[in-house]
Amino acid sequence: MFTKVGKFLGRYSFTRKLTGLLYNYEHPMLNTAVCGIKFKNPLGLAAGFDKNCQLMDIMPYCGFGYEEVGSITGEVCKGNPRPRLHRIPKDKAIIVNYGLCNKGSEYFSECLKRRKFKFPIGVSVAKTNDPNIDTEGAVKDYVKAFKLMHPIGVYTTINVSCPNTNDGQTFGHPDNLKKLLKEIAKQKITKPIFLKIKPDMSLDSIDEMLEIVKKHKFVNGFVVSNLTKKRERLRTGNNKLNSMKGAISGRPVKKKSTEIISYIYTKTKGKYVIIGCGGIFTAADAYEKIRAGSSLLQMITGMIYEGPTCMKNINKSLVKLMKQDGFKNISEAVGADAHLN
Ligand SMILES: Cc1cc2nc3c(=O)[nH]c(=O)nc-3n(C[C@H](O)[C@H](O)[C@H](O)COP(=O)(O)O)c2cc1C
Repeated sequence: MFTKVGKFLGRYSFTRKLTGLLYNYEHPMLNTAVCGIKFKNPLGLAAGFDKNCQLMDIMPYCGFGYEEVGSITGEVCKGNPRPRLHRIPKDKAIIVNYGLCNKGSEYFSECLKRRKFKFPIGVSVAKTNDPNIDTEGAVKDYVKAFKLMHPIGVYTTINVSCPNTNDGQTFGHPDNLKKLLKEIAKQKITKPIFLKIKPDMSLDSIDEMLEIVKKHKFVNGFVVSNLTKKRERLRTGNNKLNSMKGAISGRPVKKKSTEIISYIYTKTKGKYVIIGCGGIFTAADAYEKIRAGSSLLQMITGMIYEGPTCMKNINKSLVKLMKQDGFKNISEAVGADAHLN
């Protein structure tokens, strides 16, 4: 339903302008540049909402500063059986079990390669969710998606943290990551690359990942984070929920993602770009992630629960929060809570 309305509104300049009047908010304090890319504000639509790249004409008028499309896989991916989404309002969370359904990298590369975008577009790539793919096959699949999609948009995110796979495993295991980055290193790299990681990581496993990534200078940063598999982060519990497959977005991801942002920012002394994502509903949530070390932000669940004015409200109040703290621009607030010695 949302996609249908969004596609309609994006089609005509009149409906785009009207949407912008209702939902956009602009302020110079929100303008920022990351890896040389200019953003009118730091708030982006996270990967997974516009899987089929259908909302790129309207999202620039909905309060966002950029959008990440996908995740797009090497081959066509039919995804997991329904139900794929279940709202848990008491927790402001969603159980997500899409399993990366999308039309595959050949289709999207053909559709998008000649298109002009109205604001920065990032492209998320992932591996096809196919039980017959082994690790080598998975790396090949990532590389296929990367080759075809890296020329499109202003940055590429490699999603190694989708939890809704056939074997229930993400691709972030150190052995997999090493193999994958080694192959990506052989490709023609022309723009920033980010790795999307899961929130269910110990500090040791983050350290191990950072050691691997350190050897690959083409990795500019991290999207922190994807969905959580930890059901114990939900307050709501009942048999129906317990029997539903999938991982969780929204409020239950918030604390852990902010902790990881803060840890990576501090540990690497702000060397990496961090895109903070997980449980952003208000300006206070967004500001906390910025002060922890995020230069950019992403969200989905907040928009689903709070509605289309959510992004405007967040941006407006972010300006107030920055003024209260004496910052002149969003970039000055990045990592303000971190203690770098
Ligand atoms: C419906 C839905 C589909 C998603 N699909 C993807 C996806 O394809 N690729 C990806 O990297 N993350 C995906 N995610 C995860 C989000 O990008 C984000 O990391 C997570 O939802 C936490 O942010 P939020 O609390 O603001 O929703 C999806 C999330 C939702 C709610």
